[in-house]
Amino acid sequence: MTGTRPHDLGLKTLRLPVGAYASILHRITGVLLVAAVGLGLALLHASLRDARGFQAVAAAIRGPWGHVIGPLAAWAAAQHLYGGIRHLAQDAGLGFGRGASRATATAVLGLAALTGLWAVFAWP
Ligand code: HEM
Repeated sequence: MTGTRPHDLGLKTLRLPVGAYASILHRITGVLLVAAVGLGLALLHASLRDARGFQAVAAAIRGPWGHVIGPLAAWAAAQHLYGGIRHLAQDAGLGFGRGASRATATAVLGLAALTGLWAVFAWP
């Protein structure tokens, strides 16, 4: 061990580039979407069983949990969709420079946040 090696990585002062947040959120929202598809299929199944099942699902969607999970799922879908398009464009060699990459990552995060906010107000 030499005396010049850093003793503290300074994790509190490290700042990730905006593209890293977009990338991490793409992974997290991918996992959230797997859960959301499962939940959506279960709700669809229950709603199609009979009239009471339909009423119960409609009430759940309009209930407090529906107002949390619904807009969260809408944000996750938007974040993953916009981030996915960005990933695919970069795979095709588009927007790969540092400036463009930062700009598109910021746009993805901002547009997804706006979509989630819209869902909060538009939720039934
Ligand atoms: C219900 C629909 C979807 C589900 C459940 C889903 C789920 C996932 C999951 C779990 C991953 C792996 C994340 C990781 O480990 O890094 C992933 C990656 C990916 N998804 Fe999706 N996805 C969905 C829709 C989409 C759509 C519509 C697009 C395109 C617009 C898309 C584009 C991508 C891309 C490009 C990757 C790879 C990202 C990378 O290279 O790191 N996905 N998705």
